[in-house]
Amino acid sequence: MNRIFSGMQPTRQLHLGNYLGAAKNWVALQNDYECIFCVVDLHALTIDHDPETLRNNTREVAAAYIACGIDPARNVLFNQSAVAGHAELNWIFACHTPLGWLNRMTQFKEKAGKQRDNAVLGLYSYPTLMAADILLYHATHVPVGEDQKQHIELARDIAGAFNRYYGKDYFTLPDPVIQGEATRIMSLRDGTKKMSKSDESDYSRINLADDADTIALKVRKAKTDPEPLPETVEDLEKRPEADNLVTILAALTDRTRADVLRDHAGSQFSAFKAVLVDVAVAKLSPISAEMNRLMADKGEIDRILKHGAERATAIAEKTISQVKDIVGLLRV
Ligand code: AMP
Ligand code: TRP
Repeated sequence: MNRIFSGMQPTRQLHLGNYLGAAKNWVALQNDYECIFCVVDLHALTIDHDPETLRNNTREVAAAYIACGIDPARNVLFNQSAVAGHAELNWIFACHTPLGWLNRMTQFKEKAGKQRDNAVLGLYSYPTLMAADILLYHATHVPVGEDQKQHIELARDIAGAFNRYYGKDYFTLPDPVIQGEATRIMSLRDGTKKMSKSDESDYSRINLADDADTIALKVRKAKTDPEPLPETVEDLEKRPEADNLVTILAALTDRTRADVLRDHAGSQFSAFKAVLVDVAVAKLSPISAEMNRLMADKGEIDRILKHGAERATAIAEKTISQVKDIVGLLRV
């Protein structure tokens, strides 16, 4: 059986990179796979956070999943901390993961920055918790953006190490699913940096909750170069900001960058941006309207998450019991 697991952190608001690199692809996959979608609130504790905001963001990310088109009746949708197995399996994996593997993780290096000694242990062991998320459910496929590929590879390594240590073919090795034109959407202010929730400038990203005027303003202010759009993808790739805007339009309209260039080669950015604004507003405003509608009834979101957590727990508890037996923890 093929099973999907994926998640997003409830840190600030979701942005266009989260939508095009992840959520939009999840929506397409829900027809072909059994899917488990998680709001990874335990991961959000690895960076500075305010408790009340975290709780609110957790509901908001759940609302965003649904607003993007994920059907909570067909898929399991829950928040990570509601299922104890994630933290339990994280500990078991922490005892099977050499430090050398964690030292290679580029996300830790980026997030910890120069202040390594002040970075918290949870940030360092972020990838073992992520491996626990995936392996707890024996997921076969994990749809993510390009930036998470290294973490999925680590999850495979941990599964392999566990299986070898205990001489059992127990954990499934998950495959990353990195698809579409938009595996890496870049900042609107700097085409060499990825669009990120943690960027200080709100002009660097389009948030799913932005209204039409804000989207228009951000696109108009997006950094570009003075040349008109080129004819070929090869020429486009030499211009990071232009490439990013073309990629965004391609992904929003389910076309390739070559398709977009066929229509817009020779265009000035003023004209191209006007097209992009229309498309972005048309695609994103129904999502933000639906998010607002859902957020008006927090009780309903909580009911959906609770039901999802019950379904997830049923799978997770079985794995935890089996893992305890395998590693030698007494169950009385
Ligand atoms: P995060 O916001 O870090 O929790 O990421 C949630 C999901 O969105 C992951 O699958 C990421 O790979 C994806 N993602 C985040 N930022 C981008 C981006 N700039 N471009 C494409 N995908 C992204
Ligand atoms: N680390 C992922 C991110 O920042 C979020 C995440 C946590 C995740 N656990 C996961 C993604 C399990 C896929 C599967 O984007």
